[in-house]
Amino acid sequence: SAPQAAQAAPVTTPPGPGQGHIPVMVLVGTEYGFAEEVAEKLCQALQAKLPQYWAEVVKMADHPHGLDLSQQQAVLVACSTQGDGVPPAEAREFCEWLQGAPGLEAQTPNFSVCALGDRSYTHYCACGKMLDERLQQMGASRLADRADIDKEDWPAIEAWIDSVIAALPTLKLKTAGQLGLASGSAGKSSHGTTDQAKPAWSRKRPYQAKVLALEPLTQLVDAGDRQTLRVELDLADSGLSYVPGDALGFHPSNDHQVVEDVLEAMHADGSEAMPIPSSAYSSEPSRPNKIPLRELLHSFYDLRSPKSGLLQLLLDALTGPPASPRGSSRLRGGDSARDLTNLAAGKPKAGSDAAKDQSRSSAQQDKACRLRRLLEDNKAREIYLAERHVSDILLDFGNPAGPLPWQKVLGMLRPLQPRLYSISSSMLEHEHRVQITVAAVRYSCLGRDRTGVASVQLADRLKVGETLPVYVHRNPDFRLPDSANTPIIMVGPGTGLAPFRAFIIERLAKQQPGAGKGLNTLFFGSRTRDRDYLYGDQLEAWAHEGAITLHTAFSREQAAKVYVQDRLREQGEHIWKLLEQGAYFFVCGDASGMAPAVEEALLSIFESKQVSPDEYLDELKAKNRYQRDIWF
Ligand code: 2AM
Repeated sequence: SAPQAAQAAPVTTPPGPGQGHIPVMVLVGTEYGFAEEVAEKLCQALQAKLPQYWAEVVKMADHPHGLDLSQQQAVLVACSTQGDGVPPAEAREFCEWLQGAPGLEAQTPNFSVCALGDRSYTHYCACGKMLDERLQQMGASRLADRADIDKEDWPAIEAWIDSVIAALPTLKLKTAGQLGLASGSAGKSSHGTTDQAKPAWSRKRPYQAKVLALEPLTQLVDAGDRQTLRVELDLADSGLSYVPGDALGFHPSNDHQVVEDVLEAMHADGSEAMPIPSSAYSSEPSRPNKIPLRELLHSFYDLRSPKSGLLQLLLDALTGPPASPRGSSRLRGGDSARDLTNLAAGKPKAGSDAAKDQSRSSAQQDKACRLRRLLEDNKAREIYLAERHVSDILLDFGNPAGPLPWQKVLGMLRPLQPRLYSISSSMLEHEHRVQITVAAVRYSCLGRDRTGVASVQLADRLKVGETLPVYVHRNPDFRLPDSANTPIIMVGPGTGLAPFRAFIIERLAKQQPGAGKGLNTLFFGSRTRDRDYLYGDQLEAWAHEGAITLHTAFSREQAAKVYVQDRLREQGEHIWKLLEQGAYFFVCGDASGMAPAVEEALLSIFESKQVSPDEYLDELKAKNRYQRDIWF
């Protein structure tokens, strides 16, 4: 039979529409792959409940120049929203196309939107809301109400899927002629042109860039000091190019010890050849279909946050199959439910399975009870999963009496996602190189030391001369003004400085020597001047030459904290003057504390002027003069 790992591919698209099948499009816009999981769930539900419908999963990323939506019976959208209310980077161009696309009056498609988001962000589900509104404006009719989903709220997602499934059979179907199926229009944009060829290097096909330098940017004195480094990579003749504001995407890999822990907990050898999931990247145009499980876990699977279905799988592994091979699967199902109830109550089960129950150790019964409680209690499950990695969960609940069905376990793991780092260099300085600024993430949870997958790979394991699979991630919402003579104000404490170093280098390369005075204002903050003043020498030298106006806030050098927002308030008059001269205002870094505090400081500066602070800020935003690149 087909190996189970094939199930790990994020999206299941049936092989193709058969005679009499009703085609619908599932349109996916995703940053980290969650919308693909939603699409997969929707496809499974359609297959199970409305087998006459054939769902084709289409990624917005693959259609930057648009799609002919009028050719669909129904368009079902699952799309996430990024930090400042913008579409996922890969869906950006498609969404821009949709904003300006012509109406769909002629052959109205039906649609419904599942808007994925995070309630802690101001622009909750903004992209899904935009798509919903825009499709309606274009003349499409809403098949089922939009659902706004907070994080991974599966019950809410399933309710949306149910509402779509309930509504689909009520559709007035378009005729084959209206659909134009015979004309083979799929894959063409509404302008009649096919999508342009993809650039040579991409997220899916990253360039293997050689590491040229790894330079520490911090002094580590106490245990709590944060390690930050500059990573420099050779783009050689890759043809990759970037502009300030762009990020470097890179595919991290898991620590070998973490892989070994998971293999051990799965009782797997690691040398078994397994199929590579279709979501995996490859730097070569072709690759083998199978690689050893050990390598697969190292490069392609997230060994931190599994799908919550892993818990059910572990429960099934603990409580079944029954000792007697006679039972039919129907009976087994019934027995298993009763079995659990008995286990939870700590009672041995009557009947032919009694012997099995008695032989089951009380430790296993405890595990089954705990698992069952977690499966029933959403909040407890969320906390449990947030605090544990895959190997912790396997160790907590794995069956010591026998191997886990590890092919099935693979199906419960998520694809390892690429990470994005703001680019800190300019091609005007180094045409064939790229530099990023990386803070190593280390913390402790449940008394265990934890590390960030990507940042600690770069900080601890990477060596000069090795290669990293990279691509350039465009960031069209974080862009310098066209003219190097327009003043800019940059606020970037900690690694928030990263893109501003690129901004400054680029601007200085474009400005006449000595012309930069007053045009580049930087607010930087860190704990102390001695230990974590990132690029301190370079910033001081620029300030000394008058190339930048520099304001620093070292928070731990005095009893009371001093932050960049305090410096902003102190410089209120100057900031106001620059903004009145047309300055652009940029913020980069922490979204939870810093960015709102900086905005508040900015509003307080406007308050002392004869303007409405909110309106003034809105006007800056409308003119792209208030841009943020922030993260939690
Ligand atoms: P702290 O760690 O001493 O509180 C870079 O991380 C710098 O940002 C540090 O000096 C850090 O100070 C500071 N920082 C922490 N919280 C902040 C906030 N809410 N606003 C601005 N800066 C903050």
